[in-house]
Formats: sequence, structure tokens, C-alpha cells
Amino acid sequence: MKIQQQSTGETTDFEFGGMYVDGQWRASGTGRTDLVRSPFDGRLIAEVPRGDASDVDAAIAAARRVHRDGALPLSRRIAILDTAAALLRDRAEEFARAIALECAKPIKTSRGEVSRAVDTFTFAAAEARTQSSSTVPVDAVASGEGKLAWTMRVPVGIVAAISPFNFPLNLVVHKIAPAIAVGCPTVLKPASQTPVSALLLARLLHDAGLPAGWFNVVTGGGSEVGVPLSTHPDVAYVTFTGSPGVGWGISEAAPRKKVRLELGSNAPLIIDENADWQAAADAAAFGGFVQAGQSCVSTQRIFVHRAHVAAFTERLKERVEALVVGDPLDESVDVSAVISLAEAERIESWIAQATDAGATLVTGGARDGAVVTPTILSDVTRDMNVQCQEIFGPVVTIVAVDDIDEAIEQANDSDFGLNAGVFTDDLAHALHAIERLEFGSVYINDAPTVRVDLQPYGGVKDSGNTREGPHYAMQEMTELKFVTLRPAG
Ligand code: SIN
Repeated sequence: MKIQQQSTGETTDFEFGGMYVDGQWRASGTGRTDLVRSPFDGRLIAEVPRGDASDVDAAIAAARRVHRDGALPLSRRIAILDTAAALLRDRAEEFARAIALECAKPIKTSRGEVSRAVDTFTFAAAEARTQSSSTVPVDAVASGEGKLAWTMRVPVGIVAAISPFNFPLNLVVHKIAPAIAVGCPTVLKPASQTPVSALLLARLLHDAGLPAGWFNVVTGGGSEVGVPLSTHPDVAYVTFTGSPGVGWGISEAAPRKKVRLELGSNAPLIIDENADWQAAADAAAFGGFVQAGQSCVSTQRIFVHRAHVAAFTERLKERVEALVVGDPLDESVDVSAVISLAEAERIESWIAQATDAGATLVTGGARDGAVVTPTILSDVTRDMNVQCQEIFGPVVTIVAVDDIDEAIEQANDSDFGLNAGVFTDDLAHALHAIERLEFGSVYINDAPTVRVDLQPYGGVKDSGNTREGPHYAMQEMTELKFVTLRPAG
């Protein structure tokens, strides 16, 4: 259904009646709006309020009220999470279309994101059912004799969530589902380019029975909404996924809050001498280019044993040139636009810098609007942006190495440390790599572009300071309270 849009006369795909605060759809106090357009063809998708600090205050006031009233009973929170998973399954196609339109993620990949979000709700519900606490043997010392003691986990307080454009649904669910599971109210600022999935999710959680005030969505920009939200005195916990500069800036601006960051990387893939290099090439053709390389764990730097580098490059080139590039709503498309023209131009300029400095363009390197052709570069050096920065686009680099130690050394030579992949059939080399790689996750015989939604997911160094995944996020969103009880008399 297309909806007539008032301010431009164009039609939109989605209509919400505003942002979602305290169970109501409302305009911003500013009266201003933003138009959400497809990065692929500029089509108008929705018009949403451009909020500011006064909207953040209203959302925090609602969250404060429900926090003061006390957590919903656990059985009710579990029922809401279960119902949310079921409703999301029913509405999967609507969500997939929203994702495909707002961030140009190919429709088949968008469907995968929706299915992962169903899993994330389901894992949070399961985790909520099986939480446990432990007794503490304080009577191990004489002063504890006669006392009972145990720990309990209590909700940390109001959660401020700031989510990125690249997974506009599942990375929101990774923040809201654990918060519901432990009983924390949340105020979300979705990425300003992709607020539609988050607003659909607000509608879905309302329908799932989540009472007013528990989930609030304030749309708008980073300085108008993100800054007042993350520094608000009533916020106890900030969960942020996005760029390292913004993330570490939030952490510095809110030193007394728990600020949990899931940031970028330039993920390495190592192909050892004794490895199934054909399988590795196939994995790289997916891992480097799915959703146009816009994932924190996109395969970027590929280190291939010199014995295989020519054959590996040839096979990867064939696979990459077979990818279908085009409209995200086309069922056959593998790679579509990146999030904006400005980002496409930045990626294009990094490719040009690399080739000007001596890199070889194996394939790709062209740009049409916001669409960048899948690109492979070889003969790169460590100081090139395509190698030492996070490219966040459909580009991989290939470097020939002499042995596993050289590959590990180059993989670790990065400011980031999120996921690493290693293809090897040599158990000793696998164990050596697991020990030496400075990353939050190491995948043997897989690309680094892998995440199962119940795993601990997060990085070291500039890649962040947390582990997401319902079990781990629920630990982070609670405080450990220690109790002793001396029976009366
Ligand atoms: C991310 O890009 O931060 C998340 C990757 C994923 O969930 O697959």
C-alpha cells in the first residue's frame, strides 16, 4: 500500500503518526520532520519526526515512571518476548521489505535478518526462563555462621540504545529483547537513515502487550537526540553499535554510566598452506560482499599462503563477478547500494588512493550513484586506507604471506579486534592461531562474517568493550546484588 505524503506530494510506503513515546505516536516538539529515502533510487519511504532533547526528556520521563513502578512480572516479560517472536514471524515480509527499502539490503538478505531477529527474541525468552542465582557460603568464616546468603541480579535501570543503519531490525532487537528480559525500560535512537524497522518494531511490541513506557523510540540525529539521550542523568546504561569515533566519544562523555560499545573492524581471513582454499574463496565471496560489505565483521583483509594466492584470486574473481548487482527488491540481487552517495564516493576514493599508490585492481572499482561494484584489490600495503581502516563497503584486499605466523602478525596489525577467520587443515596451526589472534571471536574454516545470535559477540581494542547476545547482554544489563539473612531469634 502506498500512502499519500503531505509535505512533498509524493507517496510513502510506511506511515506511523510520529515517533513512539510512552505508548503514543506523537510529533516532535520541534514540529520538524525528516524524509527517509531509499539509498538505491531515492524513492520516498517514510516521513518521521526530527526529535530533539525535549523529546528525549519525554521518553525518559515515561521510562522513569515504569522503572519506579517496578519490573513487570517475569512470566509477563517472557510472554511478551514469545509473542513478539511469533508476530515477527507473521509480519516477516513487511519487515524484510522495510529493511530492503531503507538500507538497500537485498530482499533475500533482509529476510535473513528478520529470521535472525525472531531467533534473538526466542533466545532472550529462553534465557529469561532459565536465569539462576547462587548461594554464597558465608558461614565458611565464623562471622558468617548462622546466616543465609545469596546473590540476585537486578535491572540496571533505564537503558539508552543507539543502533546503526546496517541491521536496522536485528541490532535493535539485540538491545531491546535482553532489556525486556531483565526488566529495564529502553529509549531507542535508531540510525537516522533507517528508522522504519524500529518504528515497525514499536508497533509490534505494542501489539505483543508491552505496556506504555517500556520501549520508546525517538527519531532524529546524533547531536539532537543521541547526545542528550546518552548523557541524560537518568540513564544508567548506554548500548551503542556504530562507528568507533562516536562510540568512544559517548564513553568519554558519560564516564559514570555503563557504556557498552560494539564497533567496527577490518576483519581478516587467513588461508593457510594446508587449507581448502577453494572453500575459502567461496566463503570470501559471501563474507566480503553480503549487504555490500556493510557489516562490522565483513571480510576485508585476506591473507593467502603464497602457494595458493594465484588460484585463490582467480576463483574469488570468478565468484565475485558472478554476483548480481542492482535493485534491493529484485529477488536475484546479491549486492545493492551502500547507505549513501557520500559513502559510495568515500569508498571510491579509497580504491583510487590504493591504485594510485600501486595496488592492483583485480575486479570492480566502478561506481554508479550509491552502488559500488564488488571490488578486489591486491598488491596493497599496510598503510593504505583499504587495509588499515574499516572500509564498510564491497571491497576486499588480498595479501600473499609466507606462513601462518606472518598471516597472524599482519591480521593482528590493526586497531580493531572483532572477528577473525582462518582456513587450515592443520590442527596445530589452528590452535596456534586461536591462541595468538587478538580478536573477540576466531572461526576456524569459516569467514569472519559469521554470527549466531546466541553467541557472545563483540571485540577487543577499538572494536568495543562488550559482548552482545541475549545471555551476555542480560548479565551486562543487571547489577549483582548480594544479600544476607540472619533468621530472627
Ligand atoms: C554488526 O555489523 O555490527 C553486526 C553483524 C551481525 O550481526 O551479523
